[in-house]
This record gives sequence, C-alpha cells and structure tokens, in this order.
Amino acid sequence: MDYSNLSVLIVDDEEGIRHGLKNWFKKRFNVFDTGEYEEALKIAGKWHIDIAVLDIRLKGEKTGINLFRELIKQYPEMIVILVTGYGNVEDAVALMKQGAKDYLLKPVDHERLLGTIAKCLEIKNLQEENKSLKNELIKRDFPYGFVAHGRLMKFIRDKADKIKNEPIPICITGESGTGKEVLAKYIHYTSERRDKPFVVINCAAISETLLLSELFGHEKGAFTGANNVKIGKFQLADGGHLFLDEIGDMTQASQAALLRVLESKSFERVGGNKTIHVDVRVLTATNRDLKQKVENGEFREDLYYRINVVNLQLPPLRERKEEIVHLIEHFRSIYNERYRKEILSFSERATNLLVSCTWPGNIRQLKNVINEVVLLSEHSEVKAEDLEFSSLFGQHKTLPRPDFSKFTSLQEMVEAVSVEYEKKVIEHFLARENFNRSKAAKALKVDRKTLWRKIQKYNIDIVKET
Ligand SMILES: Nc1ncnc2c1ncn2[C@@H]1O[C@H](COP(=O)(O)OP(=O)(O)OP(=O)(O)O)[C@@H](O)[C@H]1O
Ligand SMILES: [Mg+2]
Repeated sequence: MDYSNLSVLIVDDEEGIRHGLKNWFKKRFNVFDTGEYEEALKIAGKWHIDIAVLDIRLKGEKTGINLFRELIKQYPEMIVILVTGYGNVEDAVALMKQGAKDYLLKPVDHERLLGTIAKCLEIKNLQEENKSLKNELIKRDFPYGFVAHGRLMKFIRDKADKIKNEPIPICITGESGTGKEVLAKYIHYTSERRDKPFVVINCAAISETLLLSELFGHEKGAFTGANNVKIGKFQLADGGHLFLDEIGDMTQASQAALLRVLESKSFERVGGNKTIHVDVRVLTATNRDLKQKVENGEFREDLYYRINVVNLQLPPLRERKEEIVHLIEHFRSIYNERYRKEILSFSERATNLLVSCTWPGNIRQLKNVINEVVLLSEHSEVKAEDLEFSSLFGQHKTLPRPDFSKFTSLQEMVEAVSVEYEKKVIEHFLARENFNRSKAAKALKVDRKTLWRKIQKYNIDIVKET
C-alpha cells in the first residue's frame, strides 16, 4: 500500500526509541517527531496529521494520555496509537474504549504497528466510501433540493429546521404543486433520521382495504389474494419517516386505525395478532382544508390534533413571486446539466413574463415550463418569445372557469369569459414589453389611453415601469 501522502506524528521523550521509530516510519510516511506535549499540539495544529504514535510517559506534567485525549477531541478523525514501557490490560481496555486504536508494549513490534495502521485506514476508507455512496443516494432521491430564498420560504424552512429532530408530527398544507413532498423530503434528508428510510404513501389513490394492508402489512391468507406475508409501510419506515400524502382523503375506518398506531406506536398486521412496535415519525400532507373537514364531520377531530402539532403552510407561487427568479435559476441549471445544454440565462423580459404569471399549477408548472424551454431553446439566452411557444400558454387554458349557472344568456357568458382572457392577454403583453405601456399598446394595436383604462379596470399590477 502507498502511504506516502499520509503524515505520522511520533511523540516519545526517549530519543533513542523516537529515532528508531522515525527511521522505520520514514520509508513509508511523512514523519514529524517530538518529545514534548506542547510541541506535539503545535505540530498537529500546523499540519494535517493522519496517525499519531504516543508514548504514555513524557517529560513534564502532561502525559501521553493527556495528549491522546486532547488530540482526539480536536481531531476526531486522527488514528491514535499509544505505546508504553509498563502496560496493563485494564489501562489498555480503558484507553481503547476512549478511542485509541491500539496499545503497544515497548519494544514496539513494527509489524503489529503497521498492521494496526493498515486496518484503521481500511476501515476509514470504507466509511468514506459509505458516506459518499449515501450522498449519492440522497442526491438521487432528493435531486431538486429545496429552494427557499424569499422571506416567506426562509421562514418556513427555519421553522422546519427547528422542529425536524423533535418527535412531533408535522402537517404540511398547500395547493397542488407548492412543494409539500419536497419539503417533507427536505425534513427527512437533513434530519437525524436521514440514514433511515423515507417512505411515501398516497392515501387518496387506493381503496380502504388496500390502504390498511399497505400501511400495516398483512399475514398470509388474511384475505383472498393474500398469498404471502406483506410488510407494511409503517414497518418499512422504522427509524425514519412515513409521509402520508393526501391525508384528508382517508376514510373514517382508516382514520381510526391511523389514530391507534399514532397513540400506541404499535400495530398488528391485517389478519395477524402479533403486536409490532415501531419508531416512525409521521409527516402528513394535504391540499384540502382539514379544519373544514373536521367541522363537516368528515375528519376525526382527535386525529386532526394528533397529526397537526406543527403546521407548515406552503403559500401558492403567486404569493411568493420573489422566489421565481431563484427557481428559474435552479431549474435552468438542473435541466442544462440533464440535457447537456448551455443556456446561460433568461432575458429580463423573459424573467418578467414568468414573474407576472399566476401559476395555477405552482412550482410544478414553472418547473415544466423551464424544462421544456431549456430543452428546446437554441440560444444561450432564453427570450420572452421562446416562452410564448411553450406550454406556458397552457395555464391560460386552466383559468378558473366562470360559474355558468349564474348567467341568463349566451352573450353574458361569452362576455364573462372574454373579460377573463382580456385581462390575461394584457398582463402577458405588458410583461413581455417589460411593462412599457407604449410598446404594449402598440403590440396590442390599441392606443395608450385604452390600454391604461383597461389596466385600471382590471386592477392589473404594474410591477415595473420603464
Ligand atoms: N422549494 C422548492 N425547491 C425546488 N423544487 C421545488 C420546490 N417546491 C416544489 N418543487 C418542485 O416542484 C414539483 C412539485 O412539488 P411537490 O411534488 O412537492 O408538490 P406537492 O405540493 O406535493 O403537489 P401535489 O399536491 O400535487 O402532490 C416537484 O418536482 C418539486 O421538485
Ligand atoms: Mg404531493
């Protein structure tokens, strides 16, 4: 093995022994040596030391044991080996419990010393490999990160940071696409539970029977079709987080079963009678108004208070417009890398256009637009015109539809719809023209006065005037 880039510090006040060790080590490692406590700390402060070999008896008041404790405290990664002329088993055991890697008697057996070092380095390498593999996994499962630059989002992230290691349930609410799942993942992957599983279950997408067996598992023969034992999500998530998505859509029976497991931290599989204990932190999410559901008698009040100890409410994107520029940048860089493109920026007009949109599909919709435009764009700068061809226009199709029952004639209906569209079209052109009203009026082929009247009529936000 090549150790030439590793550094060893030898501390022994008997010069003869120190030189012997030094000469032997010199052939393989970078070597520093001293006979004194203070000098040893100075060397360790100045150079990166991988391995320290310390004699227990030193000149002066401080011993090699004091030095060992100080070094481990300051440099927990350092491999420290102690040597002594007069050892006993009790001391050896006690020191190794405190983190010494070996305890050798003089005269030092060089082969054993090298063997210990090789073993420690191997373990360290494995640990590092493990760490980097874990980071890879986290990157794979959490590739989009969690963008939070604006005041509102920073407040939410800070709140999440404060409670992410507390054993209390968190309920995340917000419209579709606002990032409820991504926030749950942020909590998991930055919490003390990050090395344990993050398990997701969507409570709305499946029938009650299936949901119960997904959550708790089932025994063989529990019901027709249960040909094997199934491990439930609660058990799979042991030690980690279980993310119950769309909790507002659970049936009454499922709510009762969930309440029981939250209260007792234990459950039985469907068709089984053995009690299984788990340590699972439950995160829930919903885009429904749970409080309203409680008032309507559709959601159990006791469960509501159990899961809702802390509520993190994600605002819709239209209420955190200051985030949009950061999100554009974030997704631009992700898709640039994914498609090996070199889109360097979005023009000011393109950015303004994106900021001015109402984003009914929230961040998911913005992300899709950037994905498409980065993939298709052929210039290094994305222009407002490039966006016009993208699915951005899709959002105009998803405008809230008027309540047709309110109208008495076709003409009234058509007027109501076109008013909505007129407002959207004006907003769009204003943003495209960088909020220059003359240019927008020209593009729309109306005079400035007409445009101004309409801006006032529809109460359009003029974000920026030039
Ligand atoms: N703050 C954020 N930073 C980076 N990406 C985000 C952020 N918020 C949302 N996203 C991205 O937007 C998309 C939608 O987010 P997510 O699935 O978490 O939304 P949701 O609130 O769970 O939506 P739904 O209610 O429809 O399930 C995801 O691809 C996610 O990566
Ligand atoms: Mg979701």
